[in-house]
Amino acid sequence: MCATIIPEKHMHYPVLLNEIISIISPQYGGTFIDCTFGQGGYSSKILEYSGTKIIALDRDKDTFKKSLYLKTNFENRFIYKNIKFSKLNNLKLKNENIKAVIFDLGYSYAQIKDKKKGLSFNSSGELNMKMGLNDFSASDVINKLEEEELEKIFKFFGEEKESKKIANRIIKERKQKNISTENLVKIIESTKRIKNYKIHSATKVFQALRIFVNKEISELIYGLINATKVLKKDGIIVVVSFHSIEDKIVKYFFKSLSQAKSVSRYMPKINFKKNLFNILVKKPILPSHKELKENPSSRSAKLRYAIKTHDFYDFETDILDKFKYLIDIENFSKKL
Ligand SMILES: C[S@@+](CC[C@H](N)C(=O)[O-])C[C@H]1O[C@@H](n2cnc3c(N)ncnc32)[C@H](O)[C@@H]1O
Repeated sequence: MCATIIPEKHMHYPVLLNEIISIISPQYGGTFIDCTFGQGGYSSKILEYSGTKIIALDRDKDTFKKSLYLKTNFENRFIYKNIKFSKLNNLKLKNENIKAVIFDLGYSYAQIKDKKKGLSFNSSGELNMKMGLNDFSASDVINKLEEEELEKIFKFFGEEKESKKIANRIIKERKQKNISTENLVKIIESTKRIKNYKIHSATKVFQALRIFVNKEISELIYGLINATKVLKKDGIIVVVSFHSIEDKIVKYFFKSLSQAKSVSRYMPKINFKKNLFNILVKKPILPSHKELKENPSSRSAKLRYAIKTHDFYDFETDILDKFKYLIDIENFSKKL
């Protein structure tokens, strides 16, 4: 779930960095959009190559401090914006030939460690989970949404098998008092019957809440659509994902725009608008043994990339229909 978790002494470990560098080839220069600046691991590496320029985005304003170092050292080659990547089409990029748009989804080590953000079930106090530029917190979700809505969030965003029982207990408990992080962990631990000794009982519910609070499904879908719009022919989209819902969305988006589909199997497969991407490697790229040893938290990382084959900026995609059942769940937040 977290891209940059690392042994304490290193503090920062950009996931699949070597693989990304070999895909985007910064040695030949070019402009790159780092959609998830974080601790600046990818941006710093790319800027080491002299002909490069970075446009870095992050929704968490705390990452601004990290960006100052790069701004000082690479003044004309580095731009930082505190925006969500779903809005990347609002950047004025008309004259830029973007070589690659890179997403490293999830949370940084600094965010997980920040108690105020309350992203971890080890945090204490108020349920927060806001990464930045949010409209509501996890406390609003747990203390205000209906039982059936909570159940669906845990089931579809966390793949939590005991979502019904947990949602029911939350509704009972919150009649007594507002639920804090510690209360929620206790509720989950005492409700769950199925024990999995490999992961903490609260992992799935916390994942579900983080996805919901940060609207990660629509962020990713609009991020992918808008990244495709800003790229010219030969531009590359690279995504590192950390859970199966993210990977499913990325895989579908690339695949659905990379195959020439025809209405009848007797008709020739010519439809350039559908053939918008070239996928060179069908299976996701995973961290090497060396990386897994140095940074065990990279174990759930999956990298996929696709190369744009045409200069179309408008294209049709059915991705919003395909994942409507998830967007509908995200929309429970409209009443918060
Ligand atoms: C895993 S970290 C990125 C680490 C980075 N690659 C590095 O090497 O330091 C993910 C970052 O993406 C940011 N982020 C997550 N979702 C975002 C979104 N929708 N828009 C912009 N930034 C986002 C988070 O705030 C976090 O700082």
